[in-house]
Amino acid sequence: MKKTIAVIGAGGAMGSALSQSLAASGHHILLMDKDSEKCHKTYDAIFSELPNANIEILNCIHEGSWEADVIIPAVAYEVQEEVADYIKDVVTGKIVISIINPLNEDKSKLLTSPFSSAAEELQKYLPYSKVVKAFNTIFPSDFKNQMNADCFLAGDDEIAVATVSALIKESGMVPQLAGNLSTSRTLESMMLILIQLCRRNNTPESGCFKIHFSKS
Ligand SMILES: NC(=O)c1ccc[n+]([C@@H]2O[C@H](COP(=O)([O-])OP(=O)(O)OC[C@H]3O[C@@H](n4cnc5c(N)ncnc54)[C@H](OP(=O)(O)O)[C@@H]3O)[C@@H](O)[C@H]2O)c1
Repeated sequence: MKKTIAVIGAGGAMGSALSQSLAASGHHILLMDKDSEKCHKTYDAIFSELPNANIEILNCIHEGSWEADVIIPAVAYEVQEEVADYIKDVVTGKIVISIINPLNEDKSKLLTSPFSSAAEELQKYLPYSKVVKAFNTIFPSDFKNQMNADCFLAGDDEIAVATVSALIKESGMVPQLAGNLSTSRTLESMMLILIQLCRRNNTPESGCFKIHFSKS
């Protein structure tokens, strides 16, 4: 079933890549950013490739989150609490996808305690929503590369996890359910490692995880 998906931070790297990928699957995408002007670039980029895309720009993050079935805060960890506070009264019962990696400025360590994660913090800020960790181990450029990437997800609500798994599949990736929401601690560390590997190999931030299961 097609969903209405609010992307907060749609003018940024991940927000625009996710918006385009989800729009290509026929979902109704609400583009929102701190400065809605930034959404126009995303809007134009999507329309140039997908003239029938069902997308619109909204100026109000609160209104967009009220209208949506699924909300994706595609913002930096530092503003996660501010965004959550702004939308918390309109996201009851809804799926909120946590793509956020709580990295420090030079992306050399995590800002969260080892006993928590950005996703678990988001669930605390939004206790009546269903937070699912997903897409945090995927680089923006890899939405288009179609490398059959494994996209890990984690969550506590079975139906929400199934819904997000379907969105991952539609994006051309393989959903790999890693565990309950606390598994986000590991998933957020995995992106830290992937970034370090890119640096060590002197490659731009691209590439993905792919698990090869042995058949015997
Ligand atoms: N880039 C990656 O490789 C990657 C991969 C996986 C996950 N992630 C995660 O995805 C999130 C976004 O990363 P990104 O690289 O896309 O960052 P980005 O390019 O800086 O995009 C973030 C967007 O959010 C906007 N924003 C800031 N505060 C906001 C607010 N209060 N309300 C609405 N919009 C706001 C920013 O606007 P301003 O620029 O005007 O502040 C910017 O347009 C991060 O948490 C990151 O850890 C990133």
